[in-house]
Amino acid sequence: MEYLDLAVQLAREAGDILKHYASREKQVEFKGRANLVTIADKESEAHIIGGILKRYPDHAILAEESGAIESRPGAKVRWIIDPLDGTTNFAHQYPFYCVSIGVEVDGVVNAGAVYDPCRDEMYSGARGEGATMNGERLRVSDVERLSHALLLTGFPYDFRERIEIAIGYFRRFLMECQAVRRGGSAALDLCHMAAGRCDGFWEMKLQPWDTAAGSVIVEEAGGRITNFAGGPFSIYRQELLASNGHIHGEMSSLLQSIGV
Ligand code: IPD
Ligand code: CA
Ligand code: CA
Repeated sequence: MEYLDLAVQLAREAGDILKHYASREKQVEFKGRANLVTIADKESEAHIIGGILKRYPDHAILAEESGAIESRPGAKVRWIIDPLDGTTNFAHQYPFYCVSIGVEVDGVVNAGAVYDPCRDEMYSGARGEGATMNGERLRVSDVERLSHALLLTGFPYDFRERIEIAIGYFRRFLMECQAVRRGGSAALDLCHMAAGRCDGFWEMKLQPWDTAAGSVIVEEAGGRITNFAGGPFSIYRQELLASNGHIHGEMSSLLQSIGV
């Protein structure tokens, strides 16, 4: 895919910026009570946007910290960027965060790169061409039942306002599966799913930059992504259920049975 090489290159370079700041002063600011931004988010994003516009000045961009940059209204290609997914982890030096860059062409996310600088793992995928991690082909797990599954999830920043719902889902899955983990980077959660290191992932209130790249990578690794009800997934609709396919029905039924 034409744009994947640049996405991979910029994700790696931005990851180097995160690594540079990992053990240094990060100038943490608060966007909300629990929602942080640091100098590393900003520098990473500026580097990625600069790299894209240098090569493709007429492409559009949607980036977490800068919002929508429509260089040319009606552009066919839009880059969707999370310069640092897992900012809270990063601010605490908990080594689970990444850079995520998705490429949308005519409204469909066609390619994505996610780079984990802590493990030096580069995940990438292009629609119809498969997904890889450091060049190795990715394939989702083959766990067939929810009762044997390791699941991932995350909580939205405003979880205090919807604590009953968030905990309701969490409680039900904890009772029904083998274990649930909450890592703190939705993009990396999706990549670990694609790599077969866990079997399912659900989260409400995600943003397009959290899911654009990871969603292609999961699908290209043979996984399935929908909304909670099992209907079509959209990066713009916040709700995401991803799985290895086998346990998708069980997960979707459980999410719907909670009835919020
Ligand atoms: C957050 C992470 C987290 C998820 C939050 C996201 P950020 O992104 O992906 O896992 O639970 O919903 O906002 O703010 O660290 O880029
Ligand atoms: Ca994010
Ligand atoms: Ca972010």
